[in-house]
Amino acid sequence: MALLFLTLFVLFPCLSSLTAATATLSQRMTFTDRETTMKRLPLPGHDSPVEILLEGEADTVIIAGKKHLNSFNFQSPQKTPREIRVLWTECIDDKNPQQLKADCNYNITVVHQREEANQVFLCGTNSKETLCCDMNLNEQQPSCLSFEKMDDIKRSIRKFVIKEGEPYALVDSPDSDLFITYSGSQEFVGIHKFGKHRVVPARHNKEQHYVGLVHGRQTEPLNSKVYAFYREKNSDKGVSSGMWLPFVTRVCTADRGGRKNILQFSWTSQMNARLFCGDEDSKQYFSELVDVATVHAKQWLDTRVYALFRNEWGMSAVCVYTIQDIEHIFTNSPLKGSEGTRYRPRECDADSTQIPQEVLMVIEKHSEMEQWVQPVNNAGPLLSNHHSYTHIQVHGSPSNSDSHNTVLFLSLNNGGVHKVMQNESQTFVIAEYQPFNHRAHIVSIRLHPTSKKLYVSSRNELVQLNVANCAHYGDSCELCVLARDPYCGWNGTHCIPETHGTLQELTQGNHAICASTSKYPAPSKVFRGSKDIIQLPPKSKYFLRCPVLSHHAQYTWLHPGSNTSCSSREQQCLLLIDSMGPEQAGTYKCVSEEMGYSRVSAHYQLRLESKAAVRSSVSMVWLCLMAVLIKSLS
Ligand SMILES: *[C@@H]1O[C@H](CO)[C@@H](O)[C@H](O)[C@H]1NC(C)=O
Ligand SMILES: *[C@@H]1O[C@H](CO)[C@@H](O)[C@H](O)[C@H]1NC(C)=O
Ligand SMILES: *[C@@H]1O[C@H](CO)[C@@H](O)[C@H](O)[C@H]1NC(C)=O
Ligand SMILES: *[C@@H]1O[C@H](CO)[C@@H](O)[C@H](O)[C@H]1NC(C)=O
Repeated sequence: MALLFLTLFVLFPCLSSLTAATATLSQRMTFTDRETTMKRLPLPGHDSPVEILLEGEADTVIIAGKKHLNSFNFQSPQKTPREIRVLWTECIDDKNPQQLKADCNYNITVVHQREEANQVFLCGTNSKETLCCDMNLNEQQPSCLSFEKMDDIKRSIRKFVIKEGEPYALVDSPDSDLFITYSGSQEFVGIHKFGKHRVVPARHNKEQHYVGLVHGRQTEPLNSKVYAFYREKNSDKGVSSGMWLPFVTRVCTADRGGRKNILQFSWTSQMNARLFCGDEDSKQYFSELVDVATVHAKQWLDTRVYALFRNEWGMSAVCVYTIQDIEHIFTNSPLKGSEGTRYRPRECDADSTQIPQEVLMVIEKHSEMEQWVQPVNNAGPLLSNHHSYTHIQVHGSPSNSDSHNTVLFLSLNNGGVHKVMQNESQTFVIAEYQPFNHRAHIVSIRLHPTSKKLYVSSRNELVQLNVANCAHYGDSCELCVLARDPYCGWNGTHCIPETHGTLQELTQGNHAICASTSKYPAPSKVFRGSKDIIQLPPKSKYFLRCPVLSHHAQYTWLHPGSNTSCSSREQQCLLLIDSMGPEQAGTYKCVSEEMGYSRVSAHYQLRLESKAAVRSSVSMVWLCLMAVLIKSLS
């Protein structure tokens, strides 16, 4: 046991210095609740969160659980959250309108925030059926409102069972439609439309898991489409083929299905295409699609979909696709498995029930495209590393900057969140946030873009993170620029949330701009902290501590006799004084160096105490050693 303990202790630093070779892929900084403000609120028991809804005000968040909505106010976190019950109309007890009938046990499965403030559209499902409800959360005790245009949805969805966690899209057209997917390997796996015209997926025997639905709002209603992203179980059991295949599929929202005997009430406009994510040169391919995030553009076709993938080797990757490229494949690619050129319409049809029988027969056989959708600019993954990410959130345009820098938030399977800066050609992991005090399973993450607050929920906690915590990058222009955080900039004296005129250089984190801009005079490189003088008795042990802020920096202790380097993976760079003697006395400086910028991070003066000194301090040092040993192993 002791041997194992020792082996681990000796091996660990070696292993971590090996992986440190890929330093730029690892996060530059780590933020726990010691470094940044994190407000944690417990979630009410047994009502695991389904979705995080953000309201106009920065500090109010609604968590939709299985049974209730809870409104949290982070301004006054000590107040108990407001609980909002869903009084399904069909469930109201006639004798007592504020009560639900006893057998009324519906789990919330759809929570759609309407554009009108404080209006939500909800659906709840039990083992047999689904009810939907429109609520105005401003009301003290909201009841389900009756909107005529939602009646068709409510009627057509009643006998349908929505699965937990399926993506959905409410399309607010003259007749509203609800699009929702059904994942698995049972019957009717695919996209379902509810509303005036119910449409179901055509029968097939493939196993598919849906991770995202994107509605393309078009000026021309006939061109309105819904895109779904999913992974399909690979039926090819070959050694070289992966377990999953990633796909995009699209349907026209106006589709009503074909005619009697062929594709009646099934999609006539559905086409699907494989997504490619990988690197041909290094032969790394990613096929397990995990999650997608959409960044809408002014021009709909420029809309980008950020897709998170994993592969069998425990690696993750993010690939970006544009709707334009997806549409290009659906418009121009040959059909898979068709000899020669078979005609099938690629446009949306105003009345799909009038499509001729021969055409429907081609549609039924040929919905898959031969060509694959490649990432934008035929690029490889914009990020690939050995982390196992579970969710992705993307913030497209940080305020007032005209550069094309995007910020990604990726949740890790251990409860952490990576904040990543990306431009066309580069990605940079700015920081890892550790919102929970323990390993946790993150259920969802959601960014409030204007306040730069990130909300992270686990099964029983909701955490608010300030992701523009710029002061923590350091007190010099260079440190602020090295952070490469689009949310932060140097104002001449402080690293602050970026505003117009703050200094930043995101493309390379080139801190030379600090010296070259006369407006921001070069700071003195003098150590600003206090120089500690430490007296130690002879033969005593002692640890000198130096905080590791940047994992991309090299930390070195300069001291009498020799210099000692540290692994920057650790949270601090420790120097052990094994046995204090006259040779150990002198100046100790911990110097960090990153991209040519070096500074003194800690400064000590060690002195040898006269023999008459306190004896008891020795045992304290041993306690300290034990504590450090235990900490470094945990
Ligand atoms: C509703 O949610 C509870 C708690 O997660 C679960 O045990 C139950 O099976 C769900 N009911 C249905 C019908 O999905
Ligand atoms: C920079 O920001 C800090 C903190 O907000 C403020 O105190 C300081 O006055 C600002 N400096 C300049 C030169 O604007
Ligand atoms: C992205 O970063 C690269 C490399 O530093 C830089 O050359 C390029 O100009 C940046 N692109 C954009 C669009 O900002
Ligand atoms: C330690 O590093 C300093 C600064 O880089 C250098 O001047 C000094 O010679 C080094 N000392 C030893 C013993 O290597």
